[in-house]
Amino acid sequence: MALTELLSELDRLSAEATAAFEAAADGEVLEAARIDFLGAKSGRLKQVQKGLGKVDKADKPAAGKRFNEVKKQLEAARQSAAERLAGGGPSGEALEFDPTVPGIRPRLGHLHPITQTIEELTDIMGRLGFTVVEGPEVEDQWHNFEALNIPAAHPARDPLDNFYLATAKKMAGKEHGGWLLRSQTSTVQIRVMEKTGPPVRVISLGRVYRPDTADATHYPMFHQIEGLLVDRHVTMADLKSVLRLFASSFFEDDVHIRFRPSFFPFTEPSVEVDMSWHGGWIEMGGAGMVDPNVLEAVGYDPEEVTGFAFGLGIERVCARRHQIADIREFFKNDVRFLSQF
Ligand code: PHE
Repeated sequence: MALTELLSELDRLSAEATAAFEAAADGEVLEAARIDFLGAKSGRLKQVQKGLGKVDKADKPAAGKRFNEVKKQLEAARQSAAERLAGGGPSGEALEFDPTVPGIRPRLGHLHPITQTIEELTDIMGRLGFTVVEGPEVEDQWHNFEALNIPAAHPARDPLDNFYLATAKKMAGKEHGGWLLRSQTSTVQIRVMEKTGPPVRVISLGRVYRPDTADATHYPMFHQIEGLLVDRHVTMADLKSVLRLFASSFFEDDVHIRFRPSFFPFTEPSVEVDMSWHGGWIEMGGAGMVDPNVLEAVGYDPEEVTGFAFGLGIERVCARRHQIADIREFFKNDVRFLSQF
């Protein structure tokens, strides 16, 4: 190959490649041009390089020199094009990674407000010496009703007020009268006392189910915290002081507790528990002294031991603390709501 031919080939290549690098509007186009002209395997410069071997021996130094010049010049042209595209960044690398671009902050998740509340209540009651126990959400009627002094004809067992898992006909004659989704965590009182003798000092937190129409304060599924303390000489005063400590720890305030007379089949006497906070009274749930019939149902001696029990709505205390007007918000899974807590 004649030297002049090779040199003009190099000139043409140089002009074309420089123009292409300068015109490249983005990294992808520039990269395509790089592969086209400077590609290590079959780039056009590589093709010319193959011609180098074919020039006359005497012309080789001149041809090689010019080839190296063009090669360097094209590398530089590509480099400056890359810098131009990266906004004056330090090198072509910046096409893939620009350390000056603001980072993408990963969105960190967190616990659901109900779970946060459950953990906090567990912690507070733990400091008062109560350990956590669990019970099943699918319950038999013995634990949901019978052992809790709620006899067969009691209105609380109405099919309209409970999620039974089979029809009454199918359940007839079944051991423990068939299954339902538990309507209260008081079931766990029975399960614990059946298994262990006194003294008992436990809490249980979990889901309960009632066929209520969902509104701002009702939902067919919600959470309760149940507390049970059975020992010698337990009185209403113990119940009140535990609930007061509990409430003032949770609301981080000096709150007052108010008992209103009420009725539950499994406590005697029974009370509704209200709590004063920021000037108003909040209804927290029910409580009372464990009914002797309940103690007898689990084989405890009511002459020996007494106890108190309480059951509070977790959505209610959580909503109250965060000033949430509608408990349905808890279950919509809308991150715009949830990320506030
Ligand atoms: N189980 C009752 C309810 O669901 C609350 C309660 C618990 C009342 C323990 C007294 C004692 O409303």
